[in-house]
Amino acid sequence: MSQTFVRIGGWGKYLPDRVMPNSELAELVDTSDEWIRARTGIGERRIAAPEETTCTLAVHAARSALQQAGVEPEELDLVIVATCTPDYSNMPATASLVQHALGAPRAGAFDLNAVCSGFLYGLATGSQFILNGAYRSVLVIGAEVFTRILDWQDRSTCVLFGDGAGAVVLQPTDQPGGLLSFVLGSDGAGACSLFVPAGGSRQPASAETVAERAHYVKMQGRDVFRFATRVLPESVKQALEAAKLSTEDMDLLIPHQANTRIIDAAVRRLKLSESIVFSNVERYGNTSAASIPVALCEAIEAGLVQAGSTIVMSGFGAGLSWGTAVWKWQG
Ligand code: UT7
Repeated sequence: MSQTFVRIGGWGKYLPDRVMPNSELAELVDTSDEWIRARTGIGERRIAAPEETTCTLAVHAARSALQQAGVEPEELDLVIVATCTPDYSNMPATASLVQHALGAPRAGAFDLNAVCSGFLYGLATGSQFILNGAYRSVLVIGAEVFTRILDWQDRSTCVLFGDGAGAVVLQPTDQPGGLLSFVLGSDGAGACSLFVPAGGSRQPASAETVAERAHYVKMQGRDVFRFATRVLPESVKQALEAAKLSTEDMDLLIPHQANTRIIDAAVRRLKLSESIVFSNVERYGNTSAASIPVALCEAIEAGLVQAGSTIVMSGFGAGLSWGTAVWKWQG
């Protein structure tokens, strides 16, 4: 019997139309285009329209991915939505809304929250259903309307994030490659380095929590920065080792798009050539779970991914959490 591998048969992205340049933020808080560019590399971000939600962004990206894969929604076995900004804070899962909107009656659906590492967790999870033969079409989406949990009075966070969605369709193939290895990690000791204090079971929503602005993101930026610059190169090395590869075998690194300085630090530590590192953080800011699938789509569109390419995708963020996958593109 021939061995089954997993392939990415389709990919899609969606970014809301509205562009918010740094100059607009400088009208809201005490910041400047120079500061934001120098400290983060971000020039602008996309903002979802009032009628858009994480579900609607996800559906746009998913439809493109399904079309690309030549898969009808009716054929889908599973929809995984990685997000930390679901349409409803507790229930139902955004994945159920997406499954219904797509018209995928056979598909199971669940959300997965590993924040900015979410797409990597989704990719590793979704791949298992293909590799063990249970399913033939799995949709993995990273989607966020992150700007709805931002405190637009807090200059240390509101300049960093944006909205977007990216999706892939996973399918079985007998062509070797696909997911060669993955590393998933977590360190909950750093939970409060990046979190939304209220609205969960620990601190339910009340008039006080609203008055305290406790439903918005709080971040210890320097702690997260230190964590990210350490864990990104470490987990890339671990995942490469698990795949019995080295940095020289890498054709493309798609890191989570949080901050150019974090990416540059990883490039230095891994002694990589900048030419193999993909970045679009300048145009979209940090779109959390959407950042890696959006970047993957743009790397493919730019012709950077060929049959046989070894791609390393690496995410990190709140949890604290991280995830890295080594993927051999089958074409
Ligand atoms: O998916 C993971 C998500 N999170 C991240 O990736 C965040 C990781 N952390 C970072 O990227 C960086 O820590 C930041 C970009 C958030 C901040 O950069 P930094 O170089 O670590 O700045 P800092 O926090 O050390 O702040 C330096 C100064 C402070 O002023 P004082 O205390 O030196 O007077 C801040 O108040 O910059 C000030 N500052 C700002 N100034 C202008 C903080 N935010 C801003 C701002 N505009 N937007």
